Amino acid sequence: MDKIQFPDFTMAYEDIGRGKAILFIHGYPLNRAMWQPQMDGLSQSLRVIAPDLRGHGDSTSTKGTYSMELLADDCLSLINHLGIDKVYLCGLSMGGYISFVFVNKYPHRLAGLILTSTRANPDTLEGKANRDHTIQNAQINGAAPIIENMIPNLLSPYSLQNRPELVEKLRRIMQSVTLEGIIGDLSGMKERKDSSPLLPLITVPTLIIHGRDDPLIPVSEAQAMKTAIPHSQLVILDRCGHLPNLEASNQFNQAILDFITHTP
Ligand code: MLT
Repeated sequence: MDKIQFPDFTMAYEDIGRGKAILFIHGYPLNRAMWQPQMDGLSQSLRVIAPDLRGHGDSTSTKGTYSMELLADDCLSLINHLGIDKVYLCGLSMGGYISFVFVNKYPHRLAGLILTSTRANPDTLEGKANRDHTIQNAQINGAAPIIENMIPNLLSPYSLQNRPELVEKLRRIMQSVTLEGIIGDLSGMKERKDSSPLLPLITVPTLIIHGRDDPLIPVSEAQAMKTAIPHSQLVILDRCGHLPNLEASNQFNQAILDFITHTP
């Protein structure tokens, strides 16, 4: 693990392997540890970079809203610090929301885009109210109940039933999230803009990966993105929920390798 000191927080990150650079952006309320199968399986072929966003893992926290713009700029600061010109960006769920901001603001810094378990649409009114409710719950009861409530949202029914070691691993990964991180993310996701108008304008090669049994974001959202993003590809992984990179890591890694091998 390496660390960089930014003006308002310290970012922890992994930077492993050589070759084309791929930056993995984790979802809420996770951290870079969720990308362990990608660090293990892809770093022989690629330069794999995985930060802990502020408020997560070994990075420090800041108070207030973590807007998707703020988090995208943190990712840009990381690649600038590492002297990388163009990266492949792989964002999962909230990481995908951050990736949309990145592709909009910094398209010239992208070699390609991998959108996993994410959606272009903003929160509905009901979704925003749920975020407020979760923030209040976190302020009163701390992170533990939030983490427990998240587990059934993150894995497929198959994984929940048959892979107790994965459930436990996921619980441990989430346990390092801070209260500031939970509140910062939820407030930022609640305010995020609609990225659908951006989709037809995306010109970088794009791969969409989605779990067929994602309990949080239905596969129809991925199909809609595939239709709207020119020349994009869609891979749907069976028996996977919201975390196909953990639930079917070999197939997930292979999809990324195939995609990157066939992009210029
Ligand atoms: C995530 O997995 O990053 C979040 O749960 C996505 C969301 O809440 O919209």
